Amino acid sequence: MSQSSAETDSQTLANLSHEDRRFDPPEELAAHANVTAETYEEAKADRLAFWAEQAERISWDEPFTEVLDWSNPPFAKWYVGGTLNAAYNCVDRHVEAGHGDRVAFHWVGEPEDDTRDITYAELQDEVCKAANALAELGVGQGDRVAIYMPMIPETAIAMLATVRLGALHTVVFGGFSSDALATRVLDCETKVIITSDGGYRRGSPAALKPAVDEAVAKVEGERPGLVEHVLVVRRTGQDVEWNDDLDLWWHDVVDEASPEHTPEMFDAENPLFVMYTSGSTGKPKGIVHTTGGYLVGTSYTHWAVFDLKPDTDVYWTAADIGWITGHSYIVYGPLANGATSVMYEGTPDTPHKGRWWEIIETYGVTILYCAPTAIRTFMKWGAEIPEKFDLSSLRILGSVGEPINPEAYVWYRETIGSSRCPVMDTWWQTETGMHMISPLPGVTSGKPGSAMTAIPGVSAEVVTDEGEIVPNGSGGYLVLTEPWPSMLRTLLGDDERFKDTYWSKYAEQGWYFAGDGAKKDEDGDIWLLGRVDDVMNVSGHRLSTTEIESALVSHPKVAEAAVVGAADETTGQAVCAFVILRESALEGGEEAPDDLIEELRNHVRKEIGAIAKPRQIMIVPELPKTRSGKIMRRLLKDVAENREVGDVTTLADSTVMDLISEGVKGEK
Ligand code: PRX
Repeated sequence: MSQSSAETDSQTLANLSHEDRRFDPPEELAAHANVTAETYEEAKADRLAFWAEQAERISWDEPFTEVLDWSNPPFAKWYVGGTLNAAYNCVDRHVEAGHGDRVAFHWVGEPEDDTRDITYAELQDEVCKAANALAELGVGQGDRVAIYMPMIPETAIAMLATVRLGALHTVVFGGFSSDALATRVLDCETKVIITSDGGYRRGSPAALKPAVDEAVAKVEGERPGLVEHVLVVRRTGQDVEWNDDLDLWWHDVVDEASPEHTPEMFDAENPLFVMYTSGSTGKPKGIVHTTGGYLVGTSYTHWAVFDLKPDTDVYWTAADIGWITGHSYIVYGPLANGATSVMYEGTPDTPHKGRWWEIIETYGVTILYCAPTAIRTFMKWGAEIPEKFDLSSLRILGSVGEPINPEAYVWYRETIGSSRCPVMDTWWQTETGMHMISPLPGVTSGKPGSAMTAIPGVSAEVVTDEGEIVPNGSGGYLVLTEPWPSMLRTLLGDDERFKDTYWSKYAEQGWYFAGDGAKKDEDGDIWLLGRVDDVMNVSGHRLSTTEIESALVSHPKVAEAAVVGAADETTGQAVCAFVILRESALEGGEEAPDDLIEELRNHVRKEIGAIAKPRQIMIVPELPKTRSGKIMRRLLKDVAENREVGDVTTLADSTVMDLISEGVKGEK
């Protein structure tokens, strides 16, 4: 683990935590808020009683007999003995309660006027039909289904249909490459893949099916017969290759299926889904979430942090379902709460840069949840764009995925939130499943740049390397000191890696190590300082340096590669790669370096996906290594961020940095 990045970040961020602006909760909001200050005390007094009470928002078939079984840490069992069905909780019970006519999703396609409103009653029919169709294809409890889709209603329907059967989904972000999809299909052993011909991105149809075809071919090579069916939704109408042995049109099998389906009840700990995320080593980790605790955690936080009033709010998470944010706060949290949500297919600048604000005006969105990288992009585009729209329906704003810098926070609050809407800076992870550290809209006086404190029922601390809790005003590592309902249960097929990654550093204390640096200010409020491992955060998405390095080294012209996340004004961090070429690549000499760099950038795109494409690749003669051969990324980060190069005394060869810096200067 490199402490260096945490150190540099804490230096730069030390100044930020002297921020003295405070934004009190709006009086009106506080007067009717779902959660008040007393809740923190109640939850602290009896944490498990608090989580037992929160479980009442879920409909159980068999009641649970024990809130938490922590007898075999770190393997938690929540709501022991309880049985439930996740899809029933997200859909059917709202219809039964008389809310069938309430809109579950205002879906907005990227092409203008391509919209669809889906009520809870319609969603129930669609989910039941899809569940019947999947059951017909042999999907049952414990089976895995991969979902590789654009942002269309069928994505949520496919997820709900899968879990209705007690099967698990693994949603693979549609921007990932066929290789990334194949790796996940193989690791998760999915027998069905649900996809579409394509989706709309930046004004034109972007194909998805060809990537599935490639992935299936690759999977066939390694595990013949693993994938039994590929279910294809027709979205764009573009031509697709058809494999008669595997491929089925969604409209052929789902539309024909019966809309009646009686949900089976499953154990609270029945696995719900697997979501892959980058770790500090190459292979993505399959985070496993289970049913009862995840639903309680996501529905509670969605209700508490966004002060959700299901009868009147129009809620919008502007993220992709392919990430945990979409799972927890587009699908499970909002639907469990019977909320009305917006789901948008496309990019914020199509067909014009005011598209988000137009959507907010059209649907009267009251709660908006997005990433700082989007906010910074909007700042760059200028306040005059949102100012053209009526955003007065908004009452609460949320931020997720990376630290929000105070300027972006204040701009968001003032320009989008008319200086009226509180900003919820929510810290959490794929692993935590739900918000962990966040202000609460009716309680907290917000500080721009701070995620503030652990929410009720959650215990977070900032500790030293040795496990001492730091005093206010100091920094260290963020840990979660008590289990929480929506915690990951393990890594798919790898209990050891689960223990090693999260629980071994503070095994004695039994704390969960989050991998983030953090600081407590003089009031004890928490400021997140970024990752302390080799994980980058690009536009709020996690990428591992080693994963991109492996992708680069898999190119025949590359001998060695080192990747760092360098500060970037818009994306938070950007991928910067330093590459040593093979002798053979240098000999030819005919290729212009620019072409080669482009070729390498595209190679990473092909191997992992567009989000991993390096912003910058620098061809260097050497890489800085310690005597034990470890690459000192801290020094490369200095180069990538145009800083004076730091201490080089631990390098095996201290002149290497001169060579690199010279080469890079020459290149510019
Ligand atoms: O470094 C933290 C950062 O994102 C990481 C988790 O990434 P992922 O699992 O992809 O989930 C992103 C969406 C929940 C964390 O370890 N992070 C997330 N939210 C914040 C944040 N950093 C600072 N402030 C946040 N609000």
